[in-house]
Amino acid sequence: MKFKVNWYERLPSTNTFLKELAELKGQLPAGTVVAAREQTQGRGRMAREWLSGANENLTFSLLLSDKIETHKWPSATMAAAIAVAEMLEKEGINASLKWPNDVLVNGRKICGILAERISQGLIIGIGLNVNMQAADHIDQPATSVLMETGKRSSVDELLQKLLKHLSIRLDEWAQGGFSKVRKNWEANVPNLGKTVSVRDGGAIRSGVLAGFGENGELLLRGADGKMNTIWAGDVFYE
Ligand code: BTN
Repeated sequence: MKFKVNWYERLPSTNTFLKELAELKGQLPAGTVVAAREQTQGRGRMAREWLSGANENLTFSLLLSDKIETHKWPSATMAAAIAVAEMLEKEGINASLKWPNDVLVNGRKICGILAERISQGLIIGIGLNVNMQAADHIDQPATSVLMETGKRSSVDELLQKLLKHLSIRLDEWAQGGFSKVRKNWEANVPNLGKTVSVRDGGAIRSGVLAGFGENGELLLRGADGKMNTIWAGDVFYE
């Protein structure tokens, strides 16, 4: 997959902007990337906000084509998370994956991913903490490339590096869906086979993280031995 990157100084949210651009233009090419040096109203999953200081972090969104079969969509962000973890590995950071699409370093979140469906396809928004110096303003344990390596990085260079990994993993995903990236995903999920809790809307369920279904859905084995299939939610490790 080929990307065309458009940088902006400041946007409310790269996801929202790309969505509006696609609506305005009618047919925006798949692979269009919108990146912002500052995002003033960044959005996270479940209507949470995504905080990111000016010129500190990587915040961007990319458009995937609507030609990809819809059963594959739920695992698009998993393929993207794999690419982020691989890029971080090359930077000397040992990252792990948390379903559905968080990238963590020693239990601290370094990257979040937000997918949104539009008529032209799927928007994948990625927020990677790069030069953030401390995480006390964030309501969950968080870290950044700087906090892990002690070095500032060029956000532009990291985007270029990340797009190379995204191109490979998203091409694989577009061909075969989750089954094509399953090995890379499972290799980086530390809590397989362990007890976890999942918050799905208001309900919290505990069970063993038994694995992932054909389309990347989480399989949770309850105490009664019954397998529950979970399509959305937050996972907590115990
Ligand atoms: C999450 O972990 O809740 C997902 C966070 C996604 C944040 C990124 S930053 C770039 C893109 N634009 C947004 O408004 N959100 C995503």
